[in-house]
Amino acid sequence: MIQNKRNNVVLDYISIYELDKKDIDKIILIEKEQNLKISTKNILTDSIKSNSDKYYVAYSSKDIVGYFGISFSPDFIDILTIVIKEEFKRKHIATFLLKKILSIAKEKNIAKIFLEVRESNLPARNLYNKFGFKQINIRKSYYSNPIEDAIVLVKEC
Ligand SMILES: CC(C)(COP(=O)(O)OP(=O)(O)OC[C@H]1O[C@@H](n2cnc3c(N)ncnc32)[C@H](O)[C@@H]1OP(=O)(O)O)[C@@H](O)C(=O)NCCC(=O)NCCS
Repeated sequence: MIQNKRNNVVLDYISIYELDKKDIDKIILIEKEQNLKISTKNILTDSIKSNSDKYYVAYSSKDIVGYFGISFSPDFIDILTIVIKEEFKRKHIATFLLKKILSIAKEKNIAKIFLEVRESNLPARNLYNKFGFKQINIRKSYYSNPIEDAIVLVKEC
């Protein structure tokens, strides 16, 4: 159950599943709707068989409301992406998904979570800031289309 600041229920129920083949086209569409170019069909398809890169999909009823990808190393997790479907933004779903990532890290005894974020991506930077991620580096011109620096963040769990 997801509640807003006044404790009103904004979404009854969210279930998180590992990515399935049937989700891939929906994810590509969600990214297209927001003009994001983060995941490709190949990346998503390969992740289904991968032991290191895993994508998880959040469903409310029959709708995908968001998803995230993480990459496992022995000592840390890298967040590859978190995306929330446009009409479900600002309902604390990304917060819910980040809590899920933290619980996966705890389950696997992993004490560090890294990620990169575009310098201009204030919604994402605010989100990670709320969770106590700290800036450790800047990767100059890391992103293309448009070229932009990446802020590297880490959270010690
Ligand atoms: C960034 C993103 C994942 C946030 O998802 P969300 O479900 O809307 O976020 P939440 O509702 O859980 O918000 C948590 C906090 O993030 C920050 N935040 C979220 N959206 C924001 C916005 N539009 N402007 C400013 N801060 C924002 C706020 O601090 C918010 O806390 P608050 O509601 O108490 O103010 C979503 O905007 C998204 O999908 N963006 C496009 C993809 C992307 O850029 N992903 C990150 C790649 S690393």
